[in-house]
Amino acid sequence: MSSTVIPQAQPNTAALATNSKHFPLDQWYVAGFSTDVQDAPVGRTFLNHKVVLFRTGDGQIAALEDRCCHRALPLSCGTVEGRGVRCGYHGMLYGSNGECLEIPGQDRVPAKAKVKSYHVREQDRIIWIWMPRTDGAEPTMQPPHYPHHDDPRYKFGTGSYHYQAPWQLIHDNLLDLSHLGYVHLKTIGGNARLHMNAPMSVSVEGDMVKVVRSMPGSTPPPTYKAAWPFTDLCDRWQEIEFHLTHLRIWTGAVEPGTDAIDDPLRGGFHMRGFHGITPETENTCHYFWSMSSNKHPEMPENIEAVIEQTAFTFDEDRGVIEQQHANMKAFGEAAEWVDIHVDAGANRARRIVNKLLSQQQQEPT
Ligand code: FES
Ligand SMILES: [Fe+2]
Repeated sequence: MSSTVIPQAQPNTAALATNSKHFPLDQWYVAGFSTDVQDAPVGRTFLNHKVVLFRTGDGQIAALEDRCCHRALPLSCGTVEGRGVRCGYHGMLYGSNGECLEIPGQDRVPAKAKVKSYHVREQDRIIWIWMPRTDGAEPTMQPPHYPHHDDPRYKFGTGSYHYQAPWQLIHDNLLDLSHLGYVHLKTIGGNARLHMNAPMSVSVEGDMVKVVRSMPGSTPPPTYKAAWPFTDLCDRWQEIEFHLTHLRIWTGAVEPGTDAIDDPLRGGFHMRGFHGITPETENTCHYFWSMSSNKHPEMPENIEAVIEQTAFTFDEDRGVIEQQHANMKAFGEAAEWVDIHVDAGANRARRIVNKLLSQQQQEPT
């Protein structure tokens, strides 16, 4: 005997629309990696909007509101066909523009039988979704280009997390790599005092924050040793770029006396991290990461070790950040934060988010 799927109560969509204004809109956010969406619909919430992602028969990615207009079952509970996604309750079929294409057993499809669609783009193995201020508005810019997934010098691996913490706590963490010496001693850490005392420059270009740190004469940490035949000390660099919807972090090391660590053409061991951080709600977010690394000819297995240890490293961050958020809730907003020197980059990024939110509130839609 077959059982009936009972749809759960849907959230109040008017309230969610208001909440999405807590985030900068008219932006391309990361919806996932290309490999995340194959032959089944994928339901995710971005900026308080429930969305279903799927591929049509020609392989194109589509994104719709995750709600059947008949009786509100999430479309992500349905199935994908060549022309679109079919609801798993009474079989209505929706195309990639959100219009209902077919109602089983009924010839006429009412004009209002449609759901909201989102602009999506797939490039560089990343799926980007445009979160507009006004429903249906066309994107006003192209999604960011990320060339390193297709750079023949590198091989990459990916991972993702659903975080019980707001997105900006992850920005804070990634813009302040001084924590490596305390949180990541088993992988990419190293001497904590060297990290805390590393010279750091912070600059802002438009809505991008760049943090550069250098640590010459470092003891190679475990991941570096596993990946590259450093014989003694190494000269480490860390270059972090904050963009509103993602961060790009280029770290690595050269043998002392070889290349300068501030030379973009330097050799040595490279780790290029992509960090797509997309709010789910005010207190939860998606974190989509990739790590690209170069292969040493004598250590061809190095990349697998780097990716495995990267995943372990990011698990450690998650432990810290979710505990941090839980404690913030326990102590409440009245418990103030005291800034120290390592916060310079993170605070600049927070100012950019605040500026965009304040512009958004002042400008008419
Ligand atoms: S709820 Fe989707 S077809 Fe009825
Ligand atoms: Fe970390």
